[in-house]
Amino acid sequence: MKNYITLSDIDNLENLISEARSLKSKNTVPDLGKGKTLGMLFFNSSLRTRLSTEKAAKLLGMEVMTMNVDKDGWTLEFEDGAVMNSDKAEHIKEAAAVLSQYCDIIAVRAFPGLKNKEKDESEQVLNSFKKYASVPVINLESATGHPLQALTDAITIQELKKKDKPKIVLSWAPHPKALPQSVPNSFTEMMQKLDVEFVITNPEGYDLNPEIRKETRVEHDQEKAFENADFIYVKNWSSYENYGQVLNVEKNWTVNQKKLEPSNNAKVMHCLPVRRNMVIADDVLDSENSIVIHQANNRTFAAQAVLKQLLKDED
Ligand code: CP
Repeated sequence: MKNYITLSDIDNLENLISEARSLKSKNTVPDLGKGKTLGMLFFNSSLRTRLSTEKAAKLLGMEVMTMNVDKDGWTLEFEDGAVMNSDKAEHIKEAAAVLSQYCDIIAVRAFPGLKNKEKDESEQVLNSFKKYASVPVINLESATGHPLQALTDAITIQELKKKDKPKIVLSWAPHPKALPQSVPNSFTEMMQKLDVEFVITNPEGYDLNPEIRKETRVEHDQEKAFENADFIYVKNWSSYENYGQVLNVEKNWTVNQKKLEPSNNAKVMHCLPVRRNMVIADDVLDSENSIVIHQANNRTFAAQAVLKQLLKDED
């Protein structure tokens, strides 16, 4: 593996999931990362991604440097050939080249603007780091994907499934703000790679990018979608068709205990942070059905497996 920017960077998914589960049981692999540095750059807020990836790197013996680029760094110019006569003080060409001398792996979080679909889909920030850095680049959640989260989710499902081919439902839920499609995109792509029955349920107007959905069944009736579900992954996303918009939805899509009744006593997942009683009700989050804390714990081992693979393939 040369980079971890999209799920297509994974050479062997089964092996990567096994590696993460093995690392979880061992908890440490000393020396592989000794003398190596992970540099993490955040253009947006984070709790889990930042701390679990830092922990993962330290469990491998790496040093970690973290920067809130949006607050502490020079404002970066990403356009080639730009005349830098306004607010942008440093070009990505120099920034990525310099960082590549300080770091053995660079990890970047950069959310979409949700105003311009084409610009967001170009993944300008991640792809510019990939282009101008001379070390591997990891996606800590970008405009269109969150592959570390998706790997975590696959590990969690493999650990907790009770049948060979579980039914997994990705359910849209309400949120007061316009959120990216990154998490549901990567979750969808991951589920398409696993041997599961996968259904997406969302209101009309919230269908994900058809190039990502592909042949995945979309059910606009949430109750019907939840029938016999073994896992329900709850997440809000803004509209793809009316790009970045929050649409008026008549029905209540908040996931509560009543909604779980047609399911197979489903385990409920969410990437977190979650808005209680908006996205998922207290009676689910505080119940045995919720596995969100277990899921968040697996962020460390997903990151550790990816870092270990990148370090091994670098040698
Ligand atoms: N799930 C996730 O990426 O959490 P953070 O935004 O807190 O990193």
